[in-house]
Amino acid sequence: MSSGIHSVQHEDRIFPPPADFAARMGTLHVPDLATYQSMHERSIRDPEGFWGDVAKDFHWFKPWSKVLEWNLPDAKWFVGGQTNACFNAVDRQVEAGHGDEVAIIWEGEPNAAGPHGHEVRHITYRQLRDEVARCAAALESLGVKKGDVVTLYMGMVPELAVAVLACARIGAPHSVIFGGFAAQAIVDRVQDAQSTVIVTCDGAHRRGTVVPLKANVDAACERLPDVRHVLVLRRTGTDVPMKAGRDVWWHDVVAKQPTTRACEPVDAEHPLFLLYTSGSTGKPKGILHTTGGYMVFTAATARWTFNLVPNSGQVYFCTADLGWITGHSYIVYGLLPNRVPTLMYEGAPNWPGDDRFWSIVARHKVTHFYTAPTAIRSFMRWGDRHPAKHDLSSLRVLGTVGEPINPEAWIWYHEKIGGGRCPIVDTMWQTETGGHIITPLPGATPTVPGSCTLPMFGVDAAVVDDHGHEQPANTGGLLVIRKPWPGMLRGIHGDRQRFIDTYFSRVKGMYLAGDGARRDQRGYFWIMGRIDDVLNVSGHRLGTAEVESSLVGSKLVVEAAVVGMPHEIKGTGIAAFCVLHPDHAANADENMRKRLMEHVARDIGAIARPDMIRFTNGLPKTRSGKIMRRLLRDIAAGKETTQDTTTLEDFNVLAKLRESDEA
Ligand code: WT7
Repeated sequence: MSSGIHSVQHEDRIFPPPADFAARMGTLHVPDLATYQSMHERSIRDPEGFWGDVAKDFHWFKPWSKVLEWNLPDAKWFVGGQTNACFNAVDRQVEAGHGDEVAIIWEGEPNAAGPHGHEVRHITYRQLRDEVARCAAALESLGVKKGDVVTLYMGMVPELAVAVLACARIGAPHSVIFGGFAAQAIVDRVQDAQSTVIVTCDGAHRRGTVVPLKANVDAACERLPDVRHVLVLRRTGTDVPMKAGRDVWWHDVVAKQPTTRACEPVDAEHPLFLLYTSGSTGKPKGILHTTGGYMVFTAATARWTFNLVPNSGQVYFCTADLGWITGHSYIVYGLLPNRVPTLMYEGAPNWPGDDRFWSIVARHKVTHFYTAPTAIRSFMRWGDRHPAKHDLSSLRVLGTVGEPINPEAWIWYHEKIGGGRCPIVDTMWQTETGGHIITPLPGATPTVPGSCTLPMFGVDAAVVDDHGHEQPANTGGLLVIRKPWPGMLRGIHGDRQRFIDTYFSRVKGMYLAGDGARRDQRGYFWIMGRIDDVLNVSGHRLGTAEVESSLVGSKLVVEAAVVGMPHEIKGTGIAAFCVLHPDHAANADENMRKRLMEHVARDIGAIARPDMIRFTNGLPKTRSGKIMRRLLRDIAAGKETTQDTTTLEDFNVLAKLRESDEA
């Protein structure tokens, strides 16, 4: 299991929901722990009854005939039903008379310090519906048909949410690529998805500079002969070349469409989207989510976890990018059906100052704030004076996601941001789970800093050994889910075997999350870190194999091993051990380190840039040729290794690594 600064295992501070929380919220969906327990018990005993009741609150063009069909590892939810996720997010609100309520609040990055003040848009459900309908028609005019994968590579602009919903509207699965990824990442994903239409922006504002999104797409398209159209939104005004016949402007094509394109009824199991995420080997895998179960699960979990109350003055701000599952589930799909405005912010948390988020919270009277532990550690480092400058009294519920939170960060968040009065929901989930699988409910669950507490409704989570037997209290084991839940992935695009191998092989009959965990005497879950070669860098998942193949791809390196190392802000940093090509072996210096770091950042994206590179003449391997990663992790962490190294093929290798330790 990966070591980190936050594998905290002893913590007895307990924070019950504040006494006046219920009064402040008006309505509590789950008012106490006993209600949670009886609802959870029913959801596991009778999942069809439970989820059938939940799904009744949504619009179905055709009702389902069976709530669940489970043929391990294949789950089908709401079988025979027809619905549309865009309809339930947007059109339904307009048809029910809520068209003038605000659906999306958007704030751009630039101008915050400029003469024009902040750039803010309030988009109502009606305006959103019309723009989504136009975008849907525009995509169809570019040849997109039901079932075609549309790639979205954009900044955090409202039009990204519009494009996502437009795809859902016509039944074309979207594949959003995080704007921080580079050209190679676009190539891999577009090829794997066989996508022929890309939507992008001329550029994206980020920390006062412009990320050249269109230029990255152009570079990728040189290796993507099958891309027929690129739809380009003008955002930054950057001068970009437009390839005749292929590239078209959003303001030319979308603006002129009618708003008449209605939502396409699709089967409950129709693909809604692919989202690529890192695994332990090979290329990123396209996680497949389908329509009905994902739609119901994300909207219902958003309502329970954040205690969302429609049109009640709540304003919800999740700081994630739409390029990750958090943005899909808890900025767009889970939020819009709940009629609580979802705030999208375009830029960096520290632009133009380190208080940007707090300024947003104060100006928009944000009630719900959802971010990652790595961000909280940065806020702590930037200093208490930044939140102290702003009125944060509107806040009611705080959330975290992406990695375990260390208790220091939890307490700081609770006091300095939440003013001691806001429950913190530490939400544990994955790209694959679609939505929250283990989390406190703010009005019901007493919280303990560092624990994600108890399973979500319908989620039969457990900590087991390799045979599927539950571990006793306070004993580490494998995190599994023993029954299907509506938001679970339906597959890995184009790789049935990898789907089975990764999630349904190691422990028979159960979904394997890939995390180590334990439950304490209260039954609370504590996540102990990944059990595979996946790193969690600043709450983002990265396969060690991807970074290794990028390093070797530089041609400067013949062999590389990448492991995680403790990092104060990122949680886990990236350490790379490299054997240089003989032609370059003499240049094992600072310059070479920089060159390799830059290479990886350009190749995959800045989040993959190694924090440390060590040169070595060889990698420590077992007699069977396996790289001894545990040893490398210890060396990267600066730990004196205590383990038996007699299986090392070459003791000299270890000695050499130790030597460079001194350097
Ligand atoms: C991995 C999933 C779900 C959106 C963000 C990440 C880790 C996630 C927590 C948490 C401890 C967490 C796990 C998981 N993780 N949330 N609250 N406490 N660990 O999605 O990229 O699919 O990564 O993130 O290791 O397996 P992802």
